[in-house]
Order: sequence, then C-alpha cells, then structure tokens
Amino acid sequence: MKDETLFYVRPMETSDIEAVRALWMTIKGFGIRTIDDSKEFVERFIKRNPKTSIVASLPDGRIVGSILCGSDGRNACFYHVCVSNDHRRRGIGRAMVRYAMDALKREHINKVTLIAFKGNEVGNLFWNAEGFTERGDINYYEMPLNDENITHFNT
Ligand SMILES: CC(C)(COP(=O)(O)OP(=O)(O)OC[C@H]1O[C@@H](n2cnc3c(N)ncnc32)[C@H](O)[C@@H]1OP(=O)(O)O)[C@@H](O)C(=O)NCCC(=O)NCCS
Repeated sequence: MKDETLFYVRPMETSDIEAVRALWMTIKGFGIRTIDDSKEFVERFIKRNPKTSIVASLPDGRIVGSILCGSDGRNACFYHVCVSNDHRRRGIGRAMVRYAMDALKREHINKVTLIAFKGNEVGNLFWNAEGFTERGDINYYEMPLNDENITHFNT
C-alpha cells in the first residue's frame, strides 16, 4: 500500500528552482516579485545561502513544499514558506521549518524572522503552533530600491 504520509526534506538546489516557482504560483495570497522571484535572482539567493533553503518532495520526486531562507550572518529570514494545497496538515511545513532552523544553527545564526500578513489566518496559526513569537512592539519599515521590482499577488 502506498504511504501517503511519506515525504523527504532536503536543501533546495538550483535545479529545483523552476518546480519551486511553479509551486509558488499555486499558493493563494503569495506576493511574487518580478525581479526578486525570477529564476536568475532565486538562483543568486540559493548560491549565497546554499544550505538553508529547503524543499519537501514526494517519493516520486515531486516538490510539494519549500522555504527560501538565508541569513546576513546575524539574522535569518524565511520567505515564501509553503506546502502544496493537496499535502497540507501532514507535518511537511513543520518538518521544513525545523530542518531550516537546524541548518541555521549549524551556521551559528541565532535568530530567524519572517513576515506574515495579518489576514493570513492559516499562516499565523502555523507560526504560533511552531512556537514563533508575534512582535507587537515593533513597526516594520521598508524602502523600495528598484521600481521595476513589482509584487503581483496570487488570487
Ligand atoms: C502555512 C503552511 C506552510 C503550513 O504547512 P503544513 O504542512 O500544512 O503545516 P503542518 O502540517 O506542518 O502543521 C503544523 C501545525 O500548524 C498548525 N496548522 C497548520 N495548518 C493549520 C490550519 N489550516 N488550521 C489550523 N492550524 C493549522 C497546526 O497546529 C499544525 O499542527 P497539527 O496538524 O499537529 O495540529 C501551509 O498551510 C501553506 O502553505 N499555507 C499557504 C502559504 C502560507 O500562508 N505560508 C506562510 C506565509 S507567512
């Protein structure tokens, strides 16, 4: 009998990028940036952070989950944490997050952060369940440096 719960978690490689980008496009609410999320820029990200971005795959090799994760040598950040719609609530998100955090610890990175939209109920339930702390005492600031890097939200 086929084991529906079987999946594998491993570091993301550049050869995974197209499958991961295809997965992102299926995730409702994801904001995909024209430049930062292009194949070329994701490849650049993976090369800078070769051990901390993660994919989850099925026994047939199909990628059903991914996390982009990198650090600046001090803090790390999770981007685009996702599991395909058909494979949720099987512990894949949890396994990927733990794998990424173990990889960060091996690099002596002491904190990981992420942004979750306030309206993302499932995402916020997930981060709370995984023990992440919601900060109510800080404001998040940003400054775009390239007007051509436009965010398109998946509907
Ligand atoms: C958030 C997401 C990555 C979780 O992936 P997942 O593989 O389904 O999560 P897990 O099975 O590892 O769940 C871990 C825990 O999170 C909580 N959780 C996850 N999904 C939940 C849901 N739909 N409702 C309530 N709690 C949920 C549960 O406590 C769960 O533990 P349990 O199943 O033992 O009760 C997935 O739902 C997803 O891709 N969502 C869309 C993208 C997104 O919002 N990403 C986060 C951006 S900030």
